[in-house]
Amino acid sequence: MKSKIRLGILGGGGDSLIGIVHRIASSMHDKYSIIGGVFNPDYSENLKFAKEIGLDESRVYEDYDKMIQEELKLDKSQRMQVVSILTPNFLHYPMAKKLLENNFNVICEKPMTTTYEEALDLERIYKSKKLTFAVTYTYTGYPMIRQMKEMIKNGIIGDIQRVDLQYYQGWINPIIHDTVKRSETWRLQSDKSGISCCIGDIGTHAFDMLEYVTGMEVKELLSDLNYVYDDNTMDVDGTILIRFSDKIKGVIRASQIATGEENCFTVAIYGRKGGLKWQQENPNYLNHLSDSNPLQILKPGHDYNSDFSKISAKLPPGHPEGMFDSMANIYNGVAREIRGEKEFDGEYPTLNDGLRGMLFIEKAVESHQKGNTWIKLK
Ligand SMILES: NC(=O)c1ccc[n+]([C@@H]2O[C@H](COP(=O)([O-])OP(=O)(O)OC[C@H]3O[C@@H](n4cnc5c(N)ncnc54)[C@H](O)[C@@H]3O)[C@@H](O)[C@H]2O)c1
Repeated sequence: MKSKIRLGILGGGGDSLIGIVHRIASSMHDKYSIIGGVFNPDYSENLKFAKEIGLDESRVYEDYDKMIQEELKLDKSQRMQVVSILTPNFLHYPMAKKLLENNFNVICEKPMTTTYEEALDLERIYKSKKLTFAVTYTYTGYPMIRQMKEMIKNGIIGDIQRVDLQYYQGWINPIIHDTVKRSETWRLQSDKSGISCCIGDIGTHAFDMLEYVTGMEVKELLSDLNYVYDDNTMDVDGTILIRFSDKIKGVIRASQIATGEENCFTVAIYGRKGGLKWQQENPNYLNHLSDSNPLQILKPGHDYNSDFSKISAKLPPGHPEGMFDSMANIYNGVAREIRGEKEFDGEYPTLNDGLRGMLFIEKAVESHQKGNTWIKLK
């Protein structure tokens, strides 16, 4: 019997949005056991929550420095092997840096850091180690996204000529017009969030997805962001023109003030022979468009899907899987990497994907600030 991978968690307490997704996802393929961590900066809240989820208090720490210090005293056979970072953005870099320096594998929420420079520093440390580092661009774990990636790689839609990614939410609309609520929202504070709100939070999902499914790197962008109020320093909406080359172009549209929208993320890639379109709110349907054939709708778990898509569905066709399962596929990819079992390109988003995400955020803000000019991504 294989022993479970010992997982520590930073952030993601009972008061968080994403914590439960990681806890459930890590358990879905029976490969991890949550050992402890720091779930809340307030120690009593931290202990209370750890107790609620049945953890041994001895592995629940006051802060991440203490956690690393104490874990290093344990025999390697007991020590945490992987640590997930689920805190607000500004803590990702110092936590990830210290974890890498002390030889822990890392699963980090996006955006990976708050600046590109910090991301480069993590890359430098990572390259000097033999560790696994994943960035949880959650939606890359969906079986029909993985099917899209494989179909594009196998030339099913031909050479790409147009890309269109739309990520619309409305949750900031009731906040942005109220100065008190604005000041209480960490995503709208640059010291907690980084230089961007909307592009850093969801534009980066779209950018990563674009490079993930196409297997190509964006070369240039031009962005037009909206801050809505002069005294608001964080974008809440943006339109970004994308060029892979002078013949392959498209757009990323991201908004958190698209009133009434929930998590409306649409990925559409058009090639010479056909198009592929997927929507996060209906993730089990992949539309295959063509000039000559009727619309084909592909679904998870069927034999007609690629092997990569098939390993990403746990149940027979017709049993809907969702965001927990998508995140679980990323955890499974990390586990397979650690155990030397990884087979497919893209089983989990890498540190390089996190680094590209940070480059995208910085260049999108720079393009806007320079008066909506074309900027190269190097
Ligand atoms: N992959 C996705 O789809 C997705 C979705 C939502 C959020 N996120 C990312 O996850 C991260 C957290 O977002 P959220 O919405 O869950 O935030 P949140 O504000 O809801 O929760 C943050 C959690 O971190 C804890 N925390 C804060 N400071 C801490 C510290 N010093 N030590 C330990 N814990 C601490 C808080 O107590 C809380 O439990 C962000 O980076 C965000 O971008 C990703």
